Amino acid sequence: MIKLTWHSHACILVETAGARILVDPFLTGNPLATVKAQEVGADYVLVSHGHGDHLGDTVSIAKRTGATVISNFEIATWLQNQGLENVHPQHIGGGFDHPWGRVKLTIAHHGSALPDGSYGGNPCGFLFYLEGKKIYHACDTGLFYDMKLIGEEGIDLAILPIGDNFTMGPDDALRAVRLIGPRKVLPIHYNTFDVIAQDPQAWKTRVEENTAAEVVVLEPGQSLEI
Ligand code: NI
Ligand code: MN
Repeated sequence: MIKLTWHSHACILVETAGARILVDPFLTGNPLATVKAQEVGADYVLVSHGHGDHLGDTVSIAKRTGATVISNFEIATWLQNQGLENVHPQHIGGGFDHPWGRVKLTIAHHGSALPDGSYGGNPCGFLFYLEGKKIYHACDTGLFYDMKLIGEEGIDLAILPIGDNFTMGPDDALRAVRLIGPRKVLPIHYNTFDVIAQDPQAWKTRVEENTAAEVVVLEPGQSLEI
């Protein structure tokens, strides 16, 4: 059993046998976050790109918990320069068998500058292989046709942005569901700010009328199990 808790925006806590994996921990300054950076537990922190609403509290959480940070090579190097010792660089297309399961970095069409203007490499998404389940967290991206390739792996849960403006909006996220063909979908990256306001229940209705996927809408802090 894998438990996923949505801490709003793109922040997901994945609890699997033997590890708590925190993705894109934007908590401080996030008006929807229901947990504080000083309280959240993590054994691993995954960072999809350098923007502040994804890198978020990575440095302080990793320093407090000793969590290992997984990110692309450029961000992993930058984090080492911030004083983090436990970092594991990967890059797009590359998977690695961590003690708790495998994660592969996928492409994402977006930017990735770090808060100080440093080059953050290319942004990524994450494909998890956990307990026989496959979970695709697209992170920040526009629609891309290679989502079909990701779908060929047989996705149990796709975590997709629907906010529009900075990422896919509802229309393209529906097309993404068609390309990926996941069993379940969790919409994210909406309502954090006015510019990405969306109605997730309306999107759920549209997706479930047009695809075979089940859409799970969570409130910030709520969990689902797969
Ligand atoms: Ni971004
Ligand atoms: Mn973002």
